[in-house]
Amino acid sequence: MITITIANQKGGVAKTTTALCLANGLQECGYRVLMIDMDPQCNTTTTYKAVQENTNTLYDLLHESCSIAEAIQTTESGDIISSDVHLAGIEGEFAAHIKNYTLLRKKLREIEDSYDYTIIDTPPNIGFYMTSALVASDGVIVPLKAEKFAIDGLAQIMGNIKDARDVNPSLKVYGVLLTVYDKRTALDTIVHDQLPEIGKEQGFHVFNTSIRTCQQIKEAQSRQVRLFDEYPSCNAAIDYANLIKELLEIIKKEEK
Ligand SMILES: Nc1ncnc2c1ncn2[C@@H]1O[C@H](COP(=O)(O)OP(=O)(O)O)[C@@H](O)[C@H]1O
Ligand SMILES: [Mg+2]
Repeated sequence: MITITIANQKGGVAKTTTALCLANGLQECGYRVLMIDMDPQCNTTTTYKAVQENTNTLYDLLHESCSIAEAIQTTESGDIISSDVHLAGIEGEFAAHIKNYTLLRKKLREIEDSYDYTIIDTPPNIGFYMTSALVASDGVIVPLKAEKFAIDGLAQIMGNIKDARDVNPSLKVYGVLLTVYDKRTALDTIVHDQLPEIGKEQGFHVFNTSIRTCQQIKEAQSRQVRLFDEYPSCNAAIDYANLIKELLEIIKKEEK
């Protein structure tokens, strides 16, 4: 099983969208995929139509009141460990105990043979949830939207990834992914053209694929349907399919 975290401490950069499309696309390729929603805003959970009441969620898993297998819900969109609104105010409680940071990593080992890929969606802040995800992962995808200070924000997330390597030395950055890309916009073009060079200087890979802006993404999310099922030929579906090809090549090389 390969575990991939989607992380950037900025909100609105398409973390959740990337997690959803990656899971959906990998399922289309025939892989067994588990989604874990670590964001108390529960956007991925809602899109999967997973429930939080009368069931085990990430809350129960992190409190060790259920096993990881018991925390998995099977939905039309696939298997998911749902987030929980009750996780919103208690990040500090978990953060106070060092052993909590490796809990998810240990739990994932128990289901290692049940899935090919685990995708983790994270909240827009550097804290316990994001750090636990990084500690539990093989690699990270950092979605980035072309906006003012976006590049500056990269140093912060890369710093957190570096810190997570103290506990998880083999953690990789699979790449930075430009999202909601509109080549008619000057800033988007500048970021698109400069990003590979910045990556070279700062030592991270930038995916050749960018995800173009695409109305069907919003439609799929509001209708709670999967992009590849409903809009297989829209720009974003094409781009995410290319991203998956690129990602699988990178993972294959890393494994050698
Ligand atoms: N390629 C895209 N084209 C158009 N809108 C997009 C695209 N990717 C994401 N969005 C929209 O941008 C908003 C933020 O995306 P989201 O995935 O929720 O970001 P995050 O999880 O980083 O906060 C959502 O409304 C989503 O539908
Ligand atoms: Mg999100």
